[in-house]
Parts: sequence; C-alpha cells; structure tokens
Amino acid sequence: MDGEYDLLHHGDREVGDGLVDLAVNVRLPEPPEWLRRELAACLADLAAYPDAGRAIEAIAARHGRDPADVLPTAGAAEAFTLLATAFGARNAAVVHPQFTEPEAALRAAGHRVRRAQLSAADGFVLKPDAVPADAGLVFVGNPTNPTSVLHPAATLRQLCAPGRLLVVDEAFLDAVPGEPESLAPQRLPGVVVVRSLTKTWGIAGLRAGYVLAEPEVIARLRAVQPPWSVSTPAAVAMVACSSPRAVEESSRLAGAGERDLAALVSGLRELGVEVAGAPRAPFVLVRVPDGARVRLALREAGYAVRRGDTFPGLDGDWFRIAVRHDMSGFLAALCDLL
Ligand SMILES: Cc1ncc(COP(=O)(O)O)c(C=O)c1O
Repeated sequence: MDGEYDLLHHGDREVGDGLVDLAVNVRLPEPPEWLRRELAACLADLAAYPDAGRAIEAIAARHGRDPADVLPTAGAAEAFTLLATAFGARNAAVVHPQFTEPEAALRAAGHRVRRAQLSAADGFVLKPDAVPADAGLVFVGNPTNPTSVLHPAATLRQLCAPGRLLVVDEAFLDAVPGEPESLAPQRLPGVVVVRSLTKTWGIAGLRAGYVLAEPEVIARLRAVQPPWSVSTPAAVAMVACSSPRAVEESSRLAGAGERDLAALVSGLRELGVEVAGAPRAPFVLVRVPDGARVRLALREAGYAVRRGDTFPGLDGDWFRIAVRHDMSGFLAALCDLL
C-alpha cells in the first residue's frame, strides 16, 4: 500500500472459485497449439544457459528496428523494475490512472513519484501539461490500463523533452488493429517503448516482453538486468510470436477483439452504464453508482471483474471488465443488479 492505493493489487487476485474471469486481461485461455509445440520442442535444450540473441534479431525485424534497440525482458513488468533501477533518480512522474507496477517499482527502488492525474470528466484524455515540466522520467500507458484510452502519437511526442526519458507502455497495443499511435517503429530520442507478449498469446506464466529504445538506454537497462533473466522458453516464444505469421494472427485476433469490444460497449450503454473515455483496448472501465456493491454482487452471480479503486484517481464506483467473445450472460447479470 502507498497509504491510499494498493499498488500491488492485480486482477489475478480477483479470480478463482469457479468465477467467469473478466478481471484478468490475458486474452487466450491457453497458448495456441503452434506456440505450445515450439515451447515443448525447447525442453531438451534446458541444460544450457539461455541465449536471447535470436529473440533480439526477431523482435528487431518485427518492428523494423536495429537489434541494438532491443532488450528482451521477463515480461513487460521486469522492464519497469529495470527502468526504476537505472533511471528512477531522474525525478519520476507517472500518468494516472494506469497500471500500477511502474509506480510500485519506482517506490521499491526508493524514488519519489509524482502523479500526473488525468480526469474522468475529460474522458481520461492525455493533457501534456498534466505532466510536471521538470520530470526527467515519465511513464504513460498506450492504450492505458484501466481506462482503455489510446493516446495520439502526436500528443505523446509533445511529452518528449531534452534530458527526459518518456516510457510508453504499449503492453496492449498488439490488441488494437493496425497498432495505431505506436512509437515502436522508430528510434526516437528519449523514447522508451515497453511491449508484452503475455496477453495476446496466453503466456502470462512464461514472462515474455521487451524494451525498444536507443542503444545507450538499452545498455543501461541491460547493465542492471539479472543474468539470464529471460529463460530459454521465453526466448523461443519471442522468436515465434515475432514471426510475420504470428503478427498476422495477432492482427486477426485484434480485429475480432475490436468487434467484441464494440458489442460490449453498446450493451453497457443500453443499460445506461457510464463507460470511461473512448475504449480501444480489450477491456472497458465503467462507473456504476454503489459500484463496490455491484462488483461483489457480480461475484455472487459468477463473474469476477477487476476493482478500480486500487488505481490512483479512481474510487470504489469504478471497475474494469475484460472483453470476451459473448458477453450476453454478463450483461444480463449486470442488468439485474443495477
Ligand atoms: C498495462 C500493463 N503493462 C504491463 C503489464 C505487465 O505485462 P507482462 O505480463 O508482460 O509483465 C500489464 C499486466 O497486466 C499491464 O496491464
């Protein structure tokens, strides 16, 4: 706890007991067959220490970047700890509400954190002047968890400043068709992009993500990364999930997800539920009067949604719903409780 918010709370704590899981944003219930085959095939190689070299090449090719711009990590989450350790002393600011691990990592590394708070009244749209001008390390999510808002690349670029590192957490961008507004394809001075493979491919248990940044930044992060932090299976998954076929499949999944998102949002609006902003990610943030009661009653009805009040700036009336294919049962249950 930071006194107000439990920054270490995550959706995985809210599932179980036979509940339908609308709390965790991992899209696939299990990794696809082709990926499981690749993972199974690498088990015989586990006697050797891991080598992320092929993963670096594959990720660089996938994004059109130089291999010197790539650092594979044990999930996007490890990247936040590396950034906090290597650069946290630079007067950090975190744009909230957002995923709490960057702030938790900064605090755990002993750094002071300022919060740049976006407002529900503005649809959680990014306002560059919300970020303190003297912040030397800025974290922002795109699209943002939990608001589901996708910020324009041009607005993000306005946050760039000499001597500042801007960290854009794109953990969910592969779930948005075409990956619009991504800062991943170019090396931009002072811009660090964090990506995750765990959500789209159902491999949260494997820990696979990476950082794209200038070579000097990558070198500083690598210097503080524990040795062999990316396991052989995680490196194999990075190669497999960066192939043109996998990227095409992820784009198809994103298209289907976008249709499911539209259906959920229109179902919620028909019920008169307030939906935050203009959702683009595979989850939706809603505000419901007496939301804590409704969330607990949803559990009684068999549905786990993710509480919102552990995200700085949100209170107990907010909760986040993961997008799944057919949500008519959930919408009917919610309707009964409003
Ligand atoms: C916005 C955001 N970034 C990063 C992560 C961490 O991803 P990974 O599983 O790759 O560590 C999460 C996990 O929920 C997340 O929601």
